[in-house]
Amino acid sequence: MAVSDLIDDRLDGDETPALRFVLNGVEHTETVPARMSLWELLHDRLTLQGTKLACSRGVCGSCSVLIDGVPQASCSTFAFSIDGRHVDTIEGIAAAAHPLCEAFAARSAFQCGYCTSGMIVIAKALLDREPHPTRQTVIEWLSSNVCRCTGYAMIIEAVLAAAERGADG
Ligand code: FES
Ligand code: FES
Repeated sequence: MAVSDLIDDRLDGDETPALRFVLNGVEHTETVPARMSLWELLHDRLTLQGTKLACSRGVCGSCSVLIDGVPQASCSTFAFSIDGRHVDTIEGIAAAAHPLCEAFAARSAFQCGYCTSGMIVIAKALLDREPHPTRQTVIEWLSSNVCRCTGYAMIIEAVLAAAERGADG
């Protein structure tokens, strides 16, 4: 067997020590293949399917989740790296009835909806840091996420509306 095959086998195997992490407020323990992505862990194994995969390259923001409150592309994050961390996904944000969810719905801030969970995740990270951002700040934060449908206007309005309501979730 070639050395590269041996390396591939090892990376594909269940080689990591058990990971302990808090996902949407609930403690989890998982053993994962060494090169499993966080998106695969969330979507395929834990069946949290609200986090969407689009570019798979860490550039579109569609698969964003919060790790210790910081937005990260789950497609480009190794699952093993969340050991000891707190991870929040769109499911946790929605379960907490965060004002962003209602604001996005009230303003129809989506069309196909594929980017929406990533947009809400990045907006939550912003509002956690800056509860009353300026329009320009909202635009700058959302510029990390791609929406192919809406033209962004209603997404920006939704984030500003959530901020006005006092997004403290
Ligand atoms: S799918 Fe992860 S950043 Fe685009
Ligand atoms: S609503 Fe379709 S990509 Fe944003």
